[in-house]
Amino acid sequence: MIQIGTIKIKDDEFVELKDIIYNSSAISFSDSKKYLLENRLTKRLQELNFNSFKDYIYYLKYNVKKKEEMEILLNLVTINETYFLRERAQMDYMIKTVIPELQAKGKRSIRIWSSASSSGEEAYSMAILLNEAGLLNRMSIEIYASDINTEVLETAKQGIYRSVSFRGVPPQIVDKYFTKDGFSFKLDPLIASQVKFFQGNLLSPLVASKFGKADIIFCRNVLIYFDMEAKIKVIETFHKTLNDPGYLFLGHSETLNKISDKFQMKNFGGGIVYLK
Ligand SMILES: C[S@@+](CC[C@H](N)C(=O)[O-])C[C@H]1O[C@@H](n2cnc3c(N)ncnc32)[C@H](O)[C@@H]1O
Repeated sequence: MIQIGTIKIKDDEFVELKDIIYNSSAISFSDSKKYLLENRLTKRLQELNFNSFKDYIYYLKYNVKKKEEMEILLNLVTINETYFLRERAQMDYMIKTVIPELQAKGKRSIRIWSSASSSGEEAYSMAILLNEAGLLNRMSIEIYASDINTEVLETAKQGIYRSVSFRGVPPQIVDKYFTKDGFSFKLDPLIASQVKFFQGNLLSPLVASKFGKADIIFCRNVLIYFDMEAKIKVIETFHKTLNDPGYLFLGHSETLNKISDKFQMKNFGGGIVYLK
């Protein structure tokens, strides 16, 4: 039976469901976010012909398709807000200072990891700016990008965007790197080919096993959704994944304060970088 409006989640169901989400993604929902789960999941429950969260939780725990459903659930509950050239000062600093520093230390090839890449705007912004700086064909730079959400990764691989992804991007960059087709913007295939996407859960200590070590990690605007225990785990993984020296960029509202003392914090004017 299709229910009009959202399906309400009871307190005990909310506790159980948020634990399931937390254990598989580290995303923690406070009690005030109950409505968010109701809004985002009602349609899915209706597709499965459930009219209570109790039935859905049972399905998630015991159905033969529980693994596939977990993926669908995470695709529905993650917040994937992103756009091109977001917090650009960090990328400019990477290009003008970090990469020359690495080169001065004898590095011949550099590996960058966009570790919660959403639909790819962050990683492609790096590729565009590296190309603008003439670095893409002058030295060996690899860009890897991962996210837990398989749906946004598909968008990333297609490289087709809507105007909402271009807030504040200079029109000459849009004209140079995208082909407009109706309301869509298709990324230049040469830039698209510079980024390798894969699914990766930051909670897994093996998340970086696809490439091994990185010189520069971007993990922006995702730690805010994690609790302290998960943040500590993820930062420990980054510390192991980074080469020495290695550079970590977080979102503007994120910090390593009380999370790790293994990094040296450097304020470069336009933002902060953490050095291993
Ligand atoms: C708000 S977006 C940030 C995108 C981009 N880094 C930026 O700053 O514009 C957060 C991303 O983190 C991803 N995410 C959430 N939990 C994750 C986890 N445990 N492992 C990997 N990615 C995760 C979400 O799917 C989402 O795409």
